[in-house]
Amino acid sequence: MKISAFRLYFIYFRWMILVTGGTGLVGAHLLVQLTQNHDKIRAIHRKNSNLKAVKKVFSYYFDDILPFYSKIEWVEADITDTPSLESVFIGITHVYHSAAMVSFHPNKYREMRKINIEGTANIVNFSIAAGVKKFCHVSSIAAVGKPINNQIIDESTEWAVETSNYGYAITKYGAEMEVWRGSQEGLDVVIVNPGIILGEGFWNAGSGQFFSKVKKGMLFYTEGITGYVDVQDVVKSMIALMENSVKNERYILISENRSFKSIFSEIAVVFGVKTPSIKVTKLMSSIGWRVATLISGLTGKEPILTKHSAISIHNKHTISNTKIKNEIGIQFNSINETIARVCKSFNN
Ligand SMILES: NC(=O)c1ccc[n+]([C@@H]2O[C@H](COP(=O)([O-])OP(=O)(O)OC[C@H]3O[C@@H](n4cnc5c(N)ncnc54)[C@H](OP(=O)(O)O)[C@@H]3O)[C@@H](O)[C@H]2O)c1
Repeated sequence: MKISAFRLYFIYFRWMILVTGGTGLVGAHLLVQLTQNHDKIRAIHRKNSNLKAVKKVFSYYFDDILPFYSKIEWVEADITDTPSLESVFIGITHVYHSAAMVSFHPNKYREMRKINIEGTANIVNFSIAAGVKKFCHVSSIAAVGKPINNQIIDESTEWAVETSNYGYAITKYGAEMEVWRGSQEGLDVVIVNPGIILGEGFWNAGSGQFFSKVKKGMLFYTEGITGYVDVQDVVKSMIALMENSVKNERYILISENRSFKSIFSEIAVVFGVKTPSIKVTKLMSSIGWRVATLISGLTGKEPILTKHSAISIHNKHTISNTKIKNEIGIQFNSINETIARVCKSFNN
């Protein structure tokens, strides 16, 4: 992808960027990349957001984080609280919307709908009102359809509630609908649909736990298959799509389709610990989610397995990354390279 010097001038001197979700995995790595090329970056955080975790991510990239981290203008705001967003959009030309709630706990469904669907609608509406030039929405592979047979999944696979009927997928699909509605109202949008994102930091949440749990000696695996992608490739693709003239398109972001067994085993090999050796059968996971639900009911803690996750860990999906590679020229890091780099950061 070639960009003219004239376009570069506009990108680097005229853009005023807003990042939502900057205190999460994707947003923090995105801020690292953006602060290397831009001076005008605003990011929102909530009252209890962990800004130290963002600094930690910066420290994986820079010996001295200050010249980069200090470029971020942090503003306290919640995407579900419209008054808090009023001042956030002043002067903004480009929006990266990465904030979302990621949960598989049935009790969190209502809250997740509010954050993911209503919150996205708010960010879209403020963007339209502020005359934002381009909007990048971080969706998920969960908002792309799942074929009933073994067809390869791509951007055109139709989403259906019959095959993606769990809370997170419904809310991410609903969020995309708000973004497409925004595009009908004149907002130029690009949507990315990443698979499972692997990256440095946030070791006690989401896919970060793959590293912390395998390091501790995880015993179990399944042979379920899905798409994986490096967080660095996610943010590289988002930035490329924003700088490109492409608009009103969605792009799947995955590097490779791999089984949980192969991912956990590769992490274990790099850490030099025992590879998971007990295969979880469908019967084991169906008993497991019921026990986990019972424990969760007694303790109030998030269940380690839900009805949906017990099924999805056995699904075997093959997902295509052809569109982003062909249209934008994105090359993905191999997942083994990603795992090697992320394990190194974990050990440090
Ligand atoms: N991680 C994955 O494997 C993966 C895969 C596919 C798609 N995605 C999508 O990628 C995006 C980023 O995911 P992630 O892994 O970076 O998630 P994450 O680490 O859980 O971060 C979520 C971010 O959203 C913010 N947020 C949540 N509710 C908010 C609210 N009401 N107002 C303002 N900010 C709010 C969080 O702020 P606090 O710090 O205050 O909590 C945090 O910055 C999400 O849209 C997710 O659906 C993730």
